[in-house]
Amino acid sequence: MEKTLQLAMEAKDYIVEMRRYFHSHPEASEHEINTCRKVCEELEKMGLEPKVVCASNTGVMCEIKGKGPGKTIALRADMDALSVQELNDVPYRSTTDGLMHACGHDAHTATLLGAAKILTACRNDFNGTVRLLFQPAEETAYGAKAMVEAGCLDGVDATMGTHVNSGMKAGTFSVEAGPRLAAANWFKYRFVGKPGHGALPHQGIDAGLAACAGALDLQHLVSREFPADKALVITIGRIEAGTRFNVIAAAATLEGTVRCFDPEIFKAVPGAMERVLRGVADAYRCELVVEKAEAVTMPCYNPEKSSARGKATVLKLFGEEGIGFSPAQMGGEDYSFMMDRIPDSLYVSVGTANPEKGTDEPHHSGRFNVDEDALPGASAVYAQYAIDYLNE
Ligand code: NI
Repeated sequence: MEKTLQLAMEAKDYIVEMRRYFHSHPEASEHEINTCRKVCEELEKMGLEPKVVCASNTGVMCEIKGKGPGKTIALRADMDALSVQELNDVPYRSTTDGLMHACGHDAHTATLLGAAKILTACRNDFNGTVRLLFQPAEETAYGAKAMVEAGCLDGVDATMGTHVNSGMKAGTFSVEAGPRLAAANWFKYRFVGKPGHGALPHQGIDAGLAACAGALDLQHLVSREFPADKALVITIGRIEAGTRFNVIAAAATLEGTVRCFDPEIFKAVPGAMERVLRGVADAYRCELVVEKAEAVTMPCYNPEKSSARGKATVLKLFGEEGIGFSPAQMGGEDYSFMMDRIPDSLYVSVGTANPEKGTDEPHHSGRFNVDEDALPGASAVYAQYAIDYLNE
C-alpha cells in the first residue's frame, strides 16, 4: 500500500470527526467565520502557519514545504453550506435550522485537512511546496475569484480541486480529460416601452409583448446559430412585466442563465443574444437595456496532461477499481476561475454514492449525505497527486 494511503487510513477517525464537526456547524457563503477558525486551529496543531485571506476574511491559505526547492502546487477545497433544511436524522446533523452542508463542502474541508496531515508526514518525499487553499463561498461563485484576487495563486504552477459526487460509486475517482462542468452566465435584459390604457394599446408601447417575442426568439440561437454538436442551454427563469391587468406594460424583464462547455461559444452567446433582443425591441418600438450579462463560472475543463497524471495517481493508490466515470454536467463550479488562471489544473470528482447507506441522494437535497468510508481515499488522492506532480 502507498504510504499516503496508509497514512490516510490511519487518519480516518480524524477526517470523519472533522467532517462531522463541519457538518453540524454549517455556515453560509462569505460567513464561514467559525469554519475558518477551526481550519486554522487544526493546521496550527500540525505545526503549520495558516493565513486568513479574502475580503470576507473567511479564506485560508497555508503552505507545506518539502525537503528542497521546487515547483508549487495548490490544492483547493471549498467550505460553505447551503440554505437547505437537513432531513437526515444523524447524530451530527446540522445544528442551524435552514442551513446545511447539502453539497458536501464539509467533506472537502475535512479531506483537505486530512491531506495536510499526510503531507506534513511526507515532507521528505517531495521537493517544492504544497499550498492548501480553503476557499469561502463557492455557492455564490465569490470564493475562487476572491482567492485569486488575494494572490493565492501567485507563484503557483499547478492546481487540483475535488468535489464529492453522490451519483458515482463510493471509492471511485473520475479524472477524465475534456469538459467536466459548464460555463454559466447570469443575464438580465429589460425592455422599456410606454404605459397606456389596456383598452387603447395603440397609445402605449407594450414592453410585455416585446419580452414574450424576445423569450421565444432567443431559443432560435440554440437551434439555428450555434453548432448542434456543442451543448448549449439558454434558460429564462424569470419574466416580469407590467403593473395591472388593464394597463399596457411599460417595462418587462427577462432574467436567466446560459450554460455551455465551449469557451468560444460562451464568449459569443451574450453578443448574439443582445443582437436578437435589440432587433426584437426595435420591431416592437421598445428600448433594450442590458442590465446584466456576466460570467458566473468559466468552463471546468481537464487538460489531457493533468488528466493522465491524475489517472496514474488513482491507479497507483487503488488500481483499476478506483477509476470512476462521470459524464460532463451543465452545472457550474467556481474552481473554474482557478483552472482558467493555471492551465495545469485538475478537477477530480470523488464518488460517495452507496445506496445501502442512503448516500446516493441528489446534491442540494435535505437528504444529501456522503459515504464517510470514501473520505480517507480522497485525502490520499489530494496528497499523492501533489507529490506525483512535484516529483515529475
Ligand atoms: Ni458543491
